[in-house]
Amino acid sequence: MRTPFNEVSVVGNELRYVAEAAASLHLAGDGPFSDRCAEHLASHFGARVLMTPSCTHALEMCAYLLGLEPGDEVVVPSYAFVTTASAFAAHGATPVFADVCPDTWNLDPDDVARRIGPRTRAIVALHYGGVACDLEALGKLAERSGCMLIEDNAHGLYGAYRGRPLGSFGALATLSFHETKNLTCGEGGALVVNDPQLASRAEIIRDKGTDRARFRRGEVDRYTWRDNGSSYLLSELQAAFLYGQLEAAERVMARRRAIWTRYRDELRDWAETRGVALQHVPDESDPPYHLFPLLLPDEGQRDALIAHLARAGVLGVFHYLPLHLSPVGRRYGGTPGDCPVSEDVSRRLVRLPMFFGLDSERQSEVIGAVRTFGAAGKSGGPRA
Ligand SMILES: Cc1ncc(COP(=O)(O)O)c(C=O)c1O
Repeated sequence: MRTPFNEVSVVGNELRYVAEAAASLHLAGDGPFSDRCAEHLASHFGARVLMTPSCTHALEMCAYLLGLEPGDEVVVPSYAFVTTASAFAAHGATPVFADVCPDTWNLDPDDVARRIGPRTRAIVALHYGGVACDLEALGKLAERSGCMLIEDNAHGLYGAYRGRPLGSFGALATLSFHETKNLTCGEGGALVVNDPQLASRAEIIRDKGTDRARFRRGEVDRYTWRDNGSSYLLSELQAAFLYGQLEAAERVMARRRAIWTRYRDELRDWAETRGVALQHVPDESDPPYHLFPLLLPDEGQRDALIAHLARAGVLGVFHYLPLHLSPVGRRYGGTPGDCPVSEDVSRRLVRLPMFFGLDSERQSEVIGAVRTFGAAGKSGGPRA
């Protein structure tokens, strides 16, 4: 494909930092670059940040921190990435799938309210495309039911809700630096610990169940096995690459904003006449422009658009398959119709190429290819 869905760019000092880390021969986790990444992110969130090998690992750390027992439930969106749910299921929780809103494709607080029960331990809010969930409503629901709000902020780093960073609302929040994300080191992630009471256990869980972090700080003269845990440290080579990306974050975000805004401005009219919806961005939300999805009137037109784009050398990609209808979701009782909006969006959504290095010429070709697609309008108007 001339224009892939995603492409990684070197945007700053990444290669120099990787060479520096390699030459230092400190390759394991918690070296100087890992510390710099964690400090950089901590100053953004005003909270403790622990670097991890992926967002999935950070989600697993959340599951550890919940101290789940059999029968405990975690409410997750059905329209989500697999590990948004599986990280908790792997630690014994029953995932309870809630539906998303028809315009933002984020958790629907009214549906979440219906799914909360006496065994609910957490609500996992995924900010789809970095567009903020209704955090006020979800925060109230978590508070009222005495469960934890966790943000799966894989898409939302540097996004905001009412001027405050996404990832600073839940007791815990997770980040992804997978190569499909706005900032990357190939595979990487982080856990944001907004509740200071969870910080010391979080660092033990991340370091094989030991208090080695305290040992590193000189607070104890040896380290030992303290709790359950695993090995969730980000390698120094990856941290070095990531730090180069984090330093350049403002430039990356500005470029993504320009690409996103151009898509919106040049596709809005086309979408309106074709019955194609754009993702609604509520006034409270300031997104980091992670995705540019289109919601086609039906599955047939969505598939036809993907094929039309492919003929023009453009890779458009769909996702997510509703989790409650996955083989594992069905084992937890999921049946068709449980989350009708997730089921519907999953069939109709396609994402356009969206990456830092998407130059004006290739973006013109993507826009041109979309605009020559003749979807006969049926339902829903665009909202942006
Ligand atoms: C919403 C969401 N959560 C979690 C993940 C998992 O991220 P990672 O690949 O860093 O484990 C992804 C990955 O795409 C995601 O989109």
